[in-house]
Amino acid sequence: MPVCLTCKTTRVLYPAVRFFTLLLLHSVCTTSLFAQAPVSLTVELDKPGAAVSPQLYGLMTEEINYSYDGGLYAELIRNRAFKDNPKAPDHWSVIQEGDGKASINLDNKQPVNDALTVCLRLDIEKTGKRTGIANDGYWGIPVKPQTTYRLSFYAKASGAENAPLTVGIESNDGTTVFATAQVTGIGNQWQRYTANLTTAKDIKPTAEARLVISAQHTGTYWFNLVSLFPPTYNDRPNGNRADIMQLLAGMKPAFLRFPGGNFLEGDMFSSRYDWKKTLGGIELRPGHPGCWSYRASDGMGLLEFLEWCEDLKMEPVLAVFAGYVLKRDYLEAGPLLKPFVDEALEEIEYVTGDVNTTWGARRAKDGHPAPFKLTYVEVGNEDGFDASGSYDGRFAQFYDAIKAKYPQLQVISTVGGKDPLGMRVKFSLRRPDAIDEHYYRNAWEMEEDAGHYDNYSRTGPKIFVGEWATREGSPTPNFNAALGDAAWMTGMERNSDVVVMSCYAPLFVNVNPGGMQWKSDLIGYNALSSYGSPSYYAQKMFNTYKGDVVLPVTAANIPTRNRILSGRDSAAGKQPSQVPVLFYVATRDTKTGTVYLKVVNAAGTAQTVKIDIKGAAKIASTGQSIIMKADGPEDTNTITEPEKIVPVASKATGFGKSFTRTFPAWSITVLQLETK
Ligand code: AHR
Repeated sequence: MPVCLTCKTTRVLYPAVRFFTLLLLHSVCTTSLFAQAPVSLTVELDKPGAAVSPQLYGLMTEEINYSYDGGLYAELIRNRAFKDNPKAPDHWSVIQEGDGKASINLDNKQPVNDALTVCLRLDIEKTGKRTGIANDGYWGIPVKPQTTYRLSFYAKASGAENAPLTVGIESNDGTTVFATAQVTGIGNQWQRYTANLTTAKDIKPTAEARLVISAQHTGTYWFNLVSLFPPTYNDRPNGNRADIMQLLAGMKPAFLRFPGGNFLEGDMFSSRYDWKKTLGGIELRPGHPGCWSYRASDGMGLLEFLEWCEDLKMEPVLAVFAGYVLKRDYLEAGPLLKPFVDEALEEIEYVTGDVNTTWGARRAKDGHPAPFKLTYVEVGNEDGFDASGSYDGRFAQFYDAIKAKYPQLQVISTVGGKDPLGMRVKFSLRRPDAIDEHYYRNAWEMEEDAGHYDNYSRTGPKIFVGEWATREGSPTPNFNAALGDAAWMTGMERNSDVVVMSCYAPLFVNVNPGGMQWKSDLIGYNALSSYGSPSYYAQKMFNTYKGDVVLPVTAANIPTRNRILSGRDSAAGKQPSQVPVLFYVATRDTKTGTVYLKVVNAAGTAQTVKIDIKGAAKIASTGQSIIMKADGPEDTNTITEPEKIVPVASKATGFGKSFTRTFPAWSITVLQLETK
């Protein structure tokens, strides 16, 4: 085992990188002795290494931080099926203007069907100037000019049959009506009504708005599944917000891991992600209690996840419920677990089966006859928390059943890796095709461990870094977090023969007060707009500018800095250490010859580096540099300053077989060189 004599650091090294890592380790440890020696990076074109996994960068998602309801899922009405609070119609209010007199209450004696069991009852004693109901949306209803909103609702009336209703989007104080329409013929049986609400050209976008349904007759009215959709990405009727989808499309993600995360498991067996209850028309979906403090409408159901994949050309990475829930209840492997194994097989059939299979036919009935491509199935989530040790057997039972029916599928386990959680429990019965590791850390930890995967066995299971993030900044990460992320990504990319997939988590946060349950989330939004954090742009840069093979890079004299210990570090008995300030990875596109050299400067001083490119017949003197930098580590993007920090691409000159570059303080750079 190699030992750096200066600092006595001992590391197990993967042979292909042992030499370079030793050089780096040596330089890291000895910088203080040779502080003036030139910093250099040598890229070897003629010694291409591992192939870069085409699925290296993807997305992870679950219902947290109002990710779907109040987030990506474009529904604008909050508590549309009146189940959010069994005691009161949250987010609904009664309108009584002038001398109007009315009241609203939940009513569970008028079910529309088995899914829509609670409705809103409006009793109008006196119509006055105006009486009705209003919904305040997810922190407001976003109103934009020249936009058509699709309203639908179930209604019935008593004592006011056939009376018209006025529907509209208006300012919270009711003084400005942005769009209005009439709905006529409300009968005494449940029926679905629709209206289009179109705003004028000249209105100023605002989220200080509400939906109002008002009646001109006294009597009793009942409402259920009140739904309002703006235009959606690709015009899907039950679809997604276009602005957030555009941000995601910009990342060119290769896959989507869903539906969790904790959301897959649920607090209890009864509140696990029960995919069958998320199928069909939204009127057939009962919704369920989520595990992040609010109820999920399940408007974003299994088919919507798959269509999200289709829209962004991502492959689904399907996580199946594996018999363990957050409140630590579980089923041992055996006959009691079998129904859940069968459910997972049916779910896979729903995703991949042709229309002659039971669940493929169901998918066709739901509107999507074509099967989806599926390579990876993950069994459970973070089963390292299951101290009973049941995962070994549970995984084996799922693995055997999946492989027997779908031998082509790659099965991912949630334990067995080298992440702290994955190492917690014994795991040996089956060898998974891949292991999901999770890392939530601060920037120091990410930077100090950027060589994490240099040491991994090349003969073991592949690694799926299924959740990771540098957690600094709230609600979305700051630039220091992006630096930690970028340092970590250099390590994943350099080792992407082992790390075949990775995805940051959580992906989304609604930045309104009360919207966040987990800080440091990649993309933030309110009702009207959305933005990418510096970490979002770091990922976008890494995925956009990458080749298909890794090139070896030898470093010399990389400066280091003292790691500042946090209270948590000191409590954990950590000793101060020296952490490199520069991180790097090089890849090459073998078809075009383009080389991408990524350099992260985590320090507050610019770093001048001599760069040597070996083994190229020719290097164009002109290329491109893409630089993202900040004025300080805590600098960030926000909902009001969404693009304060973004990568800037510009023409770069002076490239050659040997050249010098200065990397700005706190910066992430890609040098794009054209080589032959
Ligand atoms: O990403 C937030 C949570 O972190 C996930 O739900 C869970 O898998 C992990 O503990």
